[in-house]
Amino acid sequence: MKIGIPAETRSGETRVAATPETVKKLISQKHEVFVQTGAGVASSITDQSYVDVGAKIVERAMDVISNCDMILKVRAPAENELSAYRAGQVVVGMLNPFDSAALESMNKAGLTAFALEAAPRTTRAQSMDVLSSQANIAGYKAVMIAANVYQRFMPMLMTAAGTVKAARVLILGVGVAGLQAIATAKRLGAVIEASDVRPATKEQVESLGAKFVDVPFESDEEREIAKGVGGYARPMPESWMKRQAAAVHEKAIKSDIVITTALIPGRKAPTLLHEETVRAMKPGSVVIDLAVEQGGNCPLSQLNEIVDVNGVKIVGYANLATMVAADASALYARNVIDFLKLVFDKEGAFKIDLEDDIVAACLMCTGGELKRKNA
Ligand code: NAI
Repeated sequence: MKIGIPAETRSGETRVAATPETVKKLISQKHEVFVQTGAGVASSITDQSYVDVGAKIVERAMDVISNCDMILKVRAPAENELSAYRAGQVVVGMLNPFDSAALESMNKAGLTAFALEAAPRTTRAQSMDVLSSQANIAGYKAVMIAANVYQRFMPMLMTAAGTVKAARVLILGVGVAGLQAIATAKRLGAVIEASDVRPATKEQVESLGAKFVDVPFESDEEREIAKGVGGYARPMPESWMKRQAAAVHEKAIKSDIVITTALIPGRKAPTLLHEETVRAMKPGSVVIDLAVEQGGNCPLSQLNEIVDVNGVKIVGYANLATMVAADASALYARNVIDFLKLVFDKEGAFKIDLEDDIVAACLMCTGGELKRKNA
């Protein structure tokens, strides 16, 4: 098959969907690979390193796309790029299963589109789990940014000039990003507390050496909703959210850094850090809101800005994985190549096996028909 890797066009996108390592694998499987010139540059990958493993470099995106049967992308093609595509082509990427308009456009263009974020969170899907590979990076980078913006040390230090206290870090939402944030802040010597709605996270938080902030359930309804669905959280009842806000307030005003990561698939992110709480926090504190693109866990967050509220800095940078572009691309490209094993037969021919739960979940449209299950 002819497989194309165009450069990403979305503003701020630094990742690329294939690396020399994965291109080499594709070529060893008898595919031909065409890469747009400069596609890997923002991820520190030169054109020459693709050529060295057998790829062909092509000048224009439209030539990569029109020449290939399958296009590997990081983000969905923009509406104005779709004219370069033709019916029957296969697109694989983080296409956003909840973006109905984009899916409709790809469907109208006759594409077969696989959105990798829709893969189930099962053991078999782990190696192709793009949400995990990228959230893990975001959790790490959130701590790096916090350490940079924070005007004090993270670890406790005893120096000749006196003792410096360790930073107190509060992490709200302990999925993949939150757990990595705990691990990273721990390595820097911070004292960490963390909270999540899913009770299963208590043990994970404690095993990383952080203290769990419990918000007890007061009804069977609360307990039931908190279990979530498919590993994901569900919107919690107002009663629990109020008690959570009070617990968060009490912890946040004693914290130096608050990192929020709470998401609910397909919905606006829940508000965990209220304005009153931020206003009561110590000057010099830092908030990193990883949910900013989904509306934010803090109502004061502004997309891609640092807002200063009485000396508390609220960082609303989106898509932190793009700031660790080389590793983000390396891990994403491996996710992609693992997924491709499911849609190629032994001879390298493309197939759609709807009996495969991962393929069925990721398939958004094919043959002019929308297929997505979860939106
Ligand atoms: P996510 O990015 O959708 O959400 C982040 C965290 O926010 C979650 O832990 C969620 O419970 C929490 N959250 C949502 N609403 C909240 C609220 N009101 N208050 C406090 N916390 C709230 O989650 P992510 O990181 O994608 O993980 C989702 C699930 O997938 C987890 O259960 C994780 O363990 C599981 N998982 C399973 C894998 C596997 O077995 N293959 C691989 C990776 C993740």
